[in-house]
Amino acid sequence: MTNASLTELLTRRVPGHALEQGFYTDPLIFQTDLKTIFYRDWLFAIPACELEKPGSYVTHQVGEYGIIIVRGADQAIRAFHNTCRHRGSILCKAAKGNAPKLVCPYHQWTYELDGKLLWARDMGPDFDPSTHGLRTVHCRELAGLVYICLADEAPDFDTFADLARPYLKPHDLTNAKVAVETTIVENGNWKLVWENNRECYHCGANHPGLCRAFPEDPVVTAGDVASTPPHIQEHCIRMEEQGLPSRFQMAADYQYRLARMPLLPGAKSLTMDLKPAVNRHMGRVTDDGAGTLLKYHYPSTWNHFLPDHAILFRLTPLSPTTTQLTTKWLVHKDAVEGRDYDVARLAEVWKATNDEDRRVVEDNQKGVNSPAYTPGPYSPVQEEAVMQFVDWYCHSLERRLDPVSLAAE
Ligand code: FES
Ligand SMILES: [Fe+2]
Repeated sequence: MTNASLTELLTRRVPGHALEQGFYTDPLIFQTDLKTIFYRDWLFAIPACELEKPGSYVTHQVGEYGIIIVRGADQAIRAFHNTCRHRGSILCKAAKGNAPKLVCPYHQWTYELDGKLLWARDMGPDFDPSTHGLRTVHCRELAGLVYICLADEAPDFDTFADLARPYLKPHDLTNAKVAVETTIVENGNWKLVWENNRECYHCGANHPGLCRAFPEDPVVTAGDVASTPPHIQEHCIRMEEQGLPSRFQMAADYQYRLARMPLLPGAKSLTMDLKPAVNRHMGRVTDDGAGTLLKYHYPSTWNHFLPDHAILFRLTPLSPTTTQLTTKWLVHKDAVEGRDYDVARLAEVWKATNDEDRRVVEDNQKGVNSPAYTPGPYSPVQEEAVMQFVDWYCHSLERRLDPVSLAAE
């Protein structure tokens, strides 16, 4: 695979159709996806509330990069490459923890929480600790969501952040806690996971729990004001009057979208019994009829923000045909388990939905693996958002591919 042949694959793409097989299976295209997208774009990593106090850290793996995200003594959240500046050992091995300093397990080089090298034994008189601090990863906090970027030079984050902040602020994610989290691995290419996420064509037949509360009608989330049903427009106006930004917003290149939409009549949350899962609202969202604030940001996250809880999904590609999905359910930090919420009930709908989605994605991958697979047409009624995702992906690749042979890299 060369950039030229990948460019040819992109050029001969039939608009409105699924991608050719290689995009979902080829190891070199997968490497290109990592290099041109996951190592270049801003990625959602964790909710900031997970780092409760100075020294709290979480580790994350994106492709070949290990990352530490840590709260400093000054409360700032920073991200570093999880590789020691001595001989490169991994520094933090646990998924999460708390440490007053970051100490390498190999020869105990010791770093401050802001990445400065504090101590290194017997390195001789010429050794300069100030040039051996941890290598930083771009890190931004957006209304309680921590984003990172592995690029040397990060793309613009402010346009998205400025748009999203007023939508997110009322949910007060900084005063939340993770009530429960799950991580699953789906045996499917990361783009199949996204394509499945971007349509509800499959919802009726596959998501009995989700469909109790969540409308599967594509016009609900289309964003086209002309075709938006009056009750959605009224909901938007009513919520904005309450100080909750709600109107549909989407990036020109489709990389992100925000919209607050009502759930089905009678539903107050994404639960099996349609009642709130948590006996305590989050932030300023006190109207049980507020519905769900939908947010996605390619390539790593989609979210639901409800009056009583929030659900954060983080997608991480592992191989051409495996994708990790981490889901975190956030509730108010003072909500008490057993009194204000029950973990099983809180997570019931989306645990089941994730598993149902895993199954259809894996079935999709199995069929795409066949030499007989031929890309078929997307539904113009149901799968417009899938087409937008595929356009965003292909245009990202086209923009960022350089003329150097991939094989030679
Ligand atoms: S590799 Fe970290 S102290 Fe030696
Ligand atoms: Fe689904």
